[in-house]
Amino acid sequence: MTLILKTDIYRGTAWHDAFARYLPDVPVREWSEPGDPNDIEYALVWAPEKGALAKFPNLKAIFSVGAGFDHLTSDPDLPKGVPIVRMVEPGLTAGMIEFVVMSALYHHRFMLDYAAQQRDKVWREIEQIPTSRRRAGILGLGVLGSACAEMLRDFGFPVAGWSRSHKDIAGVESFHGADGLIPFLNRSDILVCLLPLTPETEDILNAEAFAALPRGAALISAGRGKSVVEADLLAALDSGQLGGATLDVYRQEPLPPDSPLWSHPRIVAVPHIASMTIAETAAEAVAANIRRIQAGQDPEHMVDLKRGY
Ligand code: NAP
Ligand code: GLV
Repeated sequence: MTLILKTDIYRGTAWHDAFARYLPDVPVREWSEPGDPNDIEYALVWAPEKGALAKFPNLKAIFSVGAGFDHLTSDPDLPKGVPIVRMVEPGLTAGMIEFVVMSALYHHRFMLDYAAQQRDKVWREIEQIPTSRRRAGILGLGVLGSACAEMLRDFGFPVAGWSRSHKDIAGVESFHGADGLIPFLNRSDILVCLLPLTPETEDILNAEAFAALPRGAALISAGRGKSVVEADLLAALDSGQLGGATLDVYRQEPLPPDSPLWSHPRIVAVPHIASMTIAETAAEAVAANIRRIQAGQDPEHMVDLKRGY
């Protein structure tokens, strides 16, 4: 039983140190030195080259380094019948809570306006409003969306979420299904997107969706870039229908230098860093799942490929 890693290089030995702690009996190999491909039963990977996983004939599970797994399903040669497990670990959730709360407060406290005023050396106060008068809405109330919803609720924002199925989260209004989308958007002054990318969620944030938001609403996009029709977003910002946007994910990554998203005055653009998997806590979660599989159980957080997430 061997685990192969294609994680990242900038965290040095953090992944290996963590697996030595949580899976001391399992050999761990680096992607660049796979050895005999027949030995590999588990792969923990981010964006492997297309066709690369097909070279391991004895794989029992493929673990995504991130919560999203579109980097795997976009491989036409992905081994069939091997369970895909998305990343659910406390470090990733905590990072997303930080990013969403920080961004929501940034828009709530008019920081885009103050940044522009600072550039122009303008001293002007904008009337502060309480969080209780700013409604937050989260698209996707899964592991990340529900954790962010609870934290925004605790800051005093009236919070609602939209998902496929109804949710019971204390103090969070639940909207669901196609019929629930427009009423949900109608009441969302700050809209946070934490949807996975599926055929249903691609292009979901389009001109019609932006028009359904209250005038001047803000968007925080941290799910996947292909959920947003970027030309419609720019038009909504230019018309004032949207007051601002924080973008972490884009249709094309890295965002091309000539993209107008870089320089729009009502956009905060960051390079897909909303949250990162933390090696120490993630290795513990992956190790627990490998133990489950070895014991003949299904891993937790297995992707349902028919459903698309
Ligand atoms: P998750 O637990 O699978 O939650 C997905 C949520 O989306 C669920 O609430 C699901 O509804 C809802 N959903 C899916 N399809 C839908 C549809 N057609 N209509 C309505 N709701 C739909 O996923 P997660 O762990 O929270 O992660 C969400 C996404 O965040 C990931 O897929 C990834 O793309 C993104 N992400 C980004 C970063 C970053 O740094 N930017 C970091 C981590 C993750 P049900 O609950 O009813 O099934
Ligand atoms: C990052 O985008 C992730 O899916 O974890």
